[in-house]
Amino acid sequence: MGCKPTGDFKSPTFGHSVTPPKKYNIKPMPKLCIALDTDYDRAVELIKALKNKPIIFKVGYKLFISYHRRITDLIKREGFELFLDLKLNDIPNTIKDGVMSAAELGADYLTVHITSGKEALEEAVKVAKGIKLLGVTLLTSLEEDHVKGWGVCISKEDYILNLASLALSCGIEGLVCSGKELPLLKSKFNFFAVVPGVRLYGEPQDDQKRVVGIEEAIKNGADMIVMGRSILKAEDPIRKVEEILALL
Ligand code: C5P
Repeated sequence: MGCKPTGDFKSPTFGHSVTPPKKYNIKPMPKLCIALDTDYDRAVELIKALKNKPIIFKVGYKLFISYHRRITDLIKREGFELFLDLKLNDIPNTIKDGVMSAAELGADYLTVHITSGKEALEEAVKVAKGIKLLGVTLLTSLEEDHVKGWGVCISKEDYILNLASLALSCGIEGLVCSGKELPLLKSKFNFFAVVPGVRLYGEPQDDQKRVVGIEEAIKNGADMIVMGRSILKAEDPIRKVEEILALL
């Protein structure tokens, strides 16, 4: 599909005021986050079996819509950090309400689509309390053709840089991005990098498009690596988690 701009979108200037990257001498190892995109019983089994491991559990639509507090309370009770992946995308007042409710649930991380806009992001930051807000840039299942299909006539890299710049200038601490764009983003901004779309060598990409191997994600500066199907589809998921932890 050709690129047909529909609005008055201008080329990004990256003119938002954001903190320049810090030069770290010692880079902490990335955290592993397991995406619990599975049924309730299996999720409970995994949470119990992985007690005391340095892991964050991510709850998305599948479990949150059906089980809500049953699953979020369990994760907190077992001593894990809770990542609520609800990818909020709405008007400022609704975003504010969503973030406040996530704070009541004890979420440690919460995703918000940067395309919700400046005002919505600022409202989110105001009420975030202890939650680390993560701005979603371009989903790892999308490619440049999708961006062009929206009528946005810039490269996906410029699109991502502009979203990142907007989110960070509003006070959002973290960005969800592909490991592919991570070196570019890290060269320009100081932020907490959450990387989904990660696979071990030879594993299927499934519906993900901008995928990286775990070594590349680490090398490129991921602060948190999100893995779902790689673990959930493994013959022995617990062993798989141990193998992954050994790589970090
Ligand atoms: O199974 P897989 O490892 O591909 O799962 C990736 C997880 O990360 C899913 O739960 C998905 O919703 C989430 N995610 C993503 N891309 C984003 C943000 C979150 O894949 N940009």
